[in-house]
Amino acid sequence: MLGQLNHVAIAVPDIKAAAETYRQKFNAKVSDAVPQPDHGVITVFVDLGNTKIELLEPLGENSPIAGFLAKNPKGGIHHICIEVDDIEAACLKMNDEGVTITGTGKPKIGAHGKPVVFLHPKDLNGTLVELEQA
Ligand code: CO
Repeated sequence: MLGQLNHVAIAVPDIKAAAETYRQKFNAKVSDAVPQPDHGVITVFVDLGNTKIELLEPLGENSPIAGFLAKNPKGGIHHICIEVDDIEAACLKMNDEGVTITGTGKPKIGAHGKPVVFLHPKDLNGTLVELEQA
């Protein structure tokens, strides 16, 4: 059911500074910062060839990563994202397996324009896992 690792997301307090760190210290290919008002975050992608790092800075009042950054003021790994062939089938399987899907439990369009769901860390060794339609 699980495909490739799409990205590892790191919440950061200052996305410009974080992007510069990857650009300058590693000569990494780093995207521009893009505000994603629907998701309450600003994103930057660091291209690693076979996968990427997604840097996330909170945007707006009700950012879903605000609580995480309050607990981890310097930032930290927020979630991992794994591709699946069929997100609807994956949701049914998670329901059968008793793995909690956060929010409405239904896929919504993620930061890359593809349907995603987030699986609750309480069911997955303390790690928030995003499943994204490949
Ligand atoms: Co993500």
